[in-house]
Amino acid sequence: MIGSTKLAFVLATIAPSALAATYSLSDNHVGADFLTSFVHQAIADPTHGRVNYVDQATAVAKNLTFAAGNTLIMRADDFAVLDPAGPGRDSVRIKSVKTYTTHVSVFDIRHMPQGCGSWPAAWEVNEAVWPNVALLDTLVLNHQLEGVNDVSPNAMTLHTSAGCSIPATGNQTGTTAQLDCDVAVNGNAGCNVKAPTNDSYGPAFNTAGGGFYVMERTTTFIKVWFWTRNAPDVPADVRNGAPTLNTDTFPTPTALFPNTQCDIASHFNEHNIIINLTFCGDFAGQPSIFNGAGCPGDCATFVNQNPKAFENAFWDIAAVRVYA
Ligand SMILES: *[C@@H]1O[C@H](CO)[C@@H](O)[C@H](O)[C@H]1NC(C)=O
Ligand SMILES: *[C@@H]1O[C@H](CO)[C@@H](O)[C@H](O)[C@H]1NC(C)=O
Ligand SMILES: *[C@@H]1O[C@H](CO)[C@@H](O)[C@H](O)[C@H]1NC(C)=O
Ligand SMILES: *[C@@H]1O[C@H](CO)[C@@H](O)[C@H](O)[C@H]1NC(C)=O
Repeated sequence: MIGSTKLAFVLATIAPSALAATYSLSDNHVGADFLTSFVHQAIADPTHGRVNYVDQATAVAKNLTFAAGNTLIMRADDFAVLDPAGPGRDSVRIKSVKTYTTHVSVFDIRHMPQGCGSWPAAWEVNEAVWPNVALLDTLVLNHQLEGVNDVSPNAMTLHTSAGCSIPATGNQTGTTAQLDCDVAVNGNAGCNVKAPTNDSYGPAFNTAGGGFYVMERTTTFIKVWFWTRNAPDVPADVRNGAPTLNTDTFPTPTALFPNTQCDIASHFNEHNIIINLTFCGDFAGQPSIFNGAGCPGDCATFVNQNPKAFENAFWDIAAVRVYA
């Protein structure tokens, strides 16, 4: 890590214009590619959700994962009534085989999971250090698209070790909420910026046909753009999956995380892309959050007894493109 961080610094020092913002498509994850470029993780939920993550063979056999043409569908089981003493609801969590440092990722998403108790996320993380971040001295991740219980808008969030925060205002269209990115602060809420519109998450996102999340990570800033599907200012190269992108031509980002109060190069390392869907657990399952979102009763009981409530708990992803 030290070696690559230094290299990036030297490049930035010598040739800022060359670094500037033209990227080439390096990994184009579409349809069946997800069955080889990502792994299904049949793991225990580190966040204690009412979920049973299945492996790829099981997911494909049960059609919880459907990857063909230009479509990746990943969904939760929506027919089983669960034994409260048994495993949670079948669902899917996938992780990219490759790791990424500086890059641009484009998430072209048609539909995201919705429903009471659902806690979907598309994010980038180094799992070696998450969630046991307190054991380490640097690092971690950012959540691009995460939320719970259908509550909009989306908050774009960084979670790090101590010593990383963001300014209260910036050149962004979103609104900064928490400033301190330290996982030890405020129950690991992370520093975050709320998107300006509710179509950034959940039912309103889906009604609009989803949209595009784009994250640019450099050694000096992280930017996230969100565009709803038919927004007039989606860059054509983003919409079309062009072979190159020039982020300098993009409009003002939805969220800007600058390095003014955070040494981005040392706080972030090699990340996998992870897309997951859990239920309840440490965040979505807290009674104040679950009931506060208008969801009834106890989260785990709701998940156990109401399979039909999860008919729309699915991801429909057109592509995840990585540019470097
Ligand atoms: C799902 O994603 C969130 C990130 O938003 C993470 O905190 C959580 O641990 C993940 N849960 C599972 C079970 O993968
Ligand atoms: C599997 O899911 C896909 C996507 O929803 C659907 O088009 C297909 O018909 C399903 N296959 C079966 C065998 O149910
Ligand atoms: C977004 O949705 C929340 C509830 O989830 C609501 O309180 C808020 O008024 C909505 N904002 C806009 C701009 O419609
Ligand atoms: C804000 O960002 C946009 C897009 O990157 C840029 O065109 C504009 O000049 C920036 N404004 C300021 C005040 O830096």
